[in-house]
Amino acid sequence: MDNSAFEIHEDGAQNTRSVGKISTISRMEKKKPWSLMKIFLMCLLACFITTAIGVLIVSLVYVNSQPRLNVQLQPAWSTRTTAVLNVQKAVDPKFQFLNHLPKSKVFEFPGGAIQWARYRNNIKDYVSDEEEAFGTSLNSQRSQMTLGTLRIKSKGLRAPHWHFNANEHGYLVQGTAWIGVVDDGGEVATTYNVTAGQVIFFPKNTLHWVKNVGNEDCFFLLFFSTHDELQTLDVDDVFFSTPEDIASRSLKPEGGVNFIRKFHKQTEDQGINLPHNLAELVMNASYVQSPDNLVWRYFFDLKGSKEYRFPGGVIQMAHYLKNGNELSNNEKIFSEFLNEHENALSLSTLRIYNNGLRQPHFHFNANEMGYVLSGCGKVGIISTQGTVEFNIHIGDVIFFPIGTQHYIKSTCDEDLLFILAFSTRDKLQTLDMDDYIQATADHILAQLFLRKQSEFKKIPKFKEDQAINLP
Ligand SMILES: *[C@@H]1O[C@H](CO)[C@@H](O)[C@H](O)[C@H]1NC(C)=O
Ligand SMILES: *[C@@H]1O[C@H](CO)[C@@H](O)[C@H](O)[C@H]1NC(C)=O
Repeated sequence: MDNSAFEIHEDGAQNTRSVGKISTISRMEKKKPWSLMKIFLMCLLACFITTAIGVLIVSLVYVNSQPRLNVQLQPAWSTRTTAVLNVQKAVDPKFQFLNHLPKSKVFEFPGGAIQWARYRNNIKDYVSDEEEAFGTSLNSQRSQMTLGTLRIKSKGLRAPHWHFNANEHGYLVQGTAWIGVVDDGGEVATTYNVTAGQVIFFPKNTLHWVKNVGNEDCFFLLFFSTHDELQTLDVDDVFFSTPEDIASRSLKPEGGVNFIRKFHKQTEDQGINLPHNLAELVMNASYVQSPDNLVWRYFFDLKGSKEYRFPGGVIQMAHYLKNGNELSNNEKIFSEFLNEHENALSLSTLRIYNNGLRQPHFHFNANEMGYVLSGCGKVGIISTQGTVEFNIHIGDVIFFPIGTQHYIKSTCDEDLLFILAFSTRDKLQTLDMDDYIQATADHILAQLFLRKQSEFKKIPKFKEDQAINLP
């Protein structure tokens, strides 16, 4: 390649193809210097034409790919979300992170109702493409997350049951319930009352029941530590599946198998049960409370726990703390018991005052799922391919895969209140944006951002943690 020719026409070189032409032409120039002007103009024209064609091609390709771009806007981290990617439907990418739970199917029972934000094996079980995008996202990210809401009418009963494949963590939003838990061996049933703002914990396969003992509806948010379909068995269902003689020999009732035959399976699912003649059936209900050392294995008073206060809001946690100096003796029981269980979740409330910002941050060791209890706001998920930002309202469910940078802004007068679950039984590990920028040496930032080192003194350091800030 002729270097001198290159130098002469470097400015006009728009791309490699025209550079090639220029260098060829310029070699001719030396032989016929009298036509320099003419050749220069020709070259300029060639440059224009090549550039114009280039721009045209690029813009055509870009325009054609626009509709598909909707679906393909995948954050850089999401190698495992290819399932969502392959869904050739124009679903807004935000639905990987957002589920409008109030729009989902309501499963009605005589004594209440259940709704789900979850993964389904059969895609026909999703009511919408949006719901499918969310369920697929939970599953493909191996999230260990399923959310259900449970409403129980006054005196209604969530039938005794257990889950084969998940721990269950519940937050009582409203009402009063009496809980029973039967653990390995069944010698003791642990029973206790729970009221609004408190947390229940049922390890995988422990039998449990939930009875509404108040006058208003109970409303629970339930988080299950699975991203597959939840597997559940109710005691009445397994009873009616057991051969009569086997049930009779196991329970040894007075009257033997004839006693067993008096029981009849109801046509309606008794998952949440409330018989019309309850007063005739039950005359002597007592709601005893087991001793604290048993109760606090399955119970935590989240509302009454330590408040972590920030300029823009408050966080409370039902989680494991290693030494637990901040915890009361009862809280330590919960903390230790939680940590003994594989795949247990940590629960938390996050309150953000009006205009407060939970600044961009991410978690090293957990996926995160949340439910909006009050207020409204804006959520952003940051990736190198752009930020997916969307509005959230009461009843919305959000999902942040492990490591994903996310932020939450409160935009209503009312506080934005979340119940959050994290897929770790250990202490949650988190890094906030201001902390990682502050922790990076000034001269490293200067070199990275091509700004003078002194510029970075302008980013102030605050005494108070700015995790939730308020301008
Ligand atoms: C009613 O409950 C009390 C307290 O548990 C118990 O002592 C009593 O035996 C019960 N009576 C009947 C008829 O079940
Ligand atoms: C639990 O709540 C019920 C209904 O309010 C009440 O009758 C019962 O005494 C409570 N039990 C305990 C141990 O507080």
